[in-house]
Amino acid sequence: MPTFSDARYLEAKKTIDDRALNQRVLASLRNELAARSESATTVLEVGAGIGTMATRLIDWQVLSRAEYTLLDLELELLGEARRRLLSFGHERGLVVDEPGDCLRLHGANVDVTVRFVAAELGAFLESSAGPQGVDLLIANAFLDIVDVPSTLPRLFARGARGGLFWFCINFDGETMFLPEHADDRALLDVYHRSMDERVRHGRPAGDSKTGRHLLLELPRAGASLIAAGASDWVVFPSELGYTADEAYFLRHIVNTIRAELERHTEVPRAMLTAWCDERNAQIERNALCYIAHQLDFAGRLPR
Ligand SMILES: C[S@@+](CC[C@H](N)C(=O)[O-])C[C@H]1O[C@@H](n2cnc3c(N)ncnc32)[C@H](O)[C@@H]1O
Repeated sequence: MPTFSDARYLEAKKTIDDRALNQRVLASLRNELAARSESATTVLEVGAGIGTMATRLIDWQVLSRAEYTLLDLELELLGEARRRLLSFGHERGLVVDEPGDCLRLHGANVDVTVRFVAAELGAFLESSAGPQGVDLLIANAFLDIVDVPSTLPRLFARGARGGLFWFCINFDGETMFLPEHADDRALLDVYHRSMDERVRHGRPAGDSKTGRHLLLELPRAGASLIAAGASDWVVFPSELGYTADEAYFLRHIVNTIRAELERHTEVPRAMLTAWCDERNAQIERNALCYIAHQLDFAGRLPR
């Protein structure tokens, strides 16, 4: 059985997120940020992984002057984030300084200082550590693995009055593989149910319909929506094969489903093995397509 790397998975996911992120929702966020003061935007990104979003927002000119905190549970992923930001800065011709534990990337039209916080989100929000009163809260492919109703109010408490949020790539209950397989429904139903039942760090951790539930949970927590829209992952082979490292992304997804379903005794092992073997063979032949339905949201924090 091959071993799988979370860092490589998150790197492979970048081109897929680049296509998927809802540009209308992002444009609303961009407009809101542009209308604000000239001072640096303070950002807290939770579940930030290898820091892909920070580099994307600089590249896409959404952020130019920022104090950006990356929070993640995994120290190793944050180490990778630091390495990636360093080489990103050098590749873009920026000056890269390392004052204390931070990383500062600056040059023409860019001045972004990045801080790294290794912490479990729930414990972090109960503490007084880290930034307070931030202008922008970000979570990408993250809110669907935490308990949204109890997390939002505590996360919002880290925001400034009049601050903004951008919560993107929130899974919303639909996973599709093509070509269809007779056992898709049986296996994916259990997989989705496992998201609803998941417990991590002593707390409920996710919901297979997080996307649609955020439409009600965000206002319930006092936030107001500015924009919402779909951000489905659509992975497919062109005649040259899969883009970038997206075949690895697909193998990782199939392996994640296998690892989860192996823990469910109601799933016949032979059925699961045959399904995973078939899906992996299709990836090898550039013959598997994958769609995951997701939603993005931008808005204002509670006043
Ligand atoms: C699906 S990844 C998304 C990473 C990044 N936002 C991206 O889109 O590339 C989820 C990230 O959340 C982190 N994570 C999971 N549970 C967490 C928790 N309770 N507190 C802090 N980070 C957590 C994981 O280590 C992982 O890096």
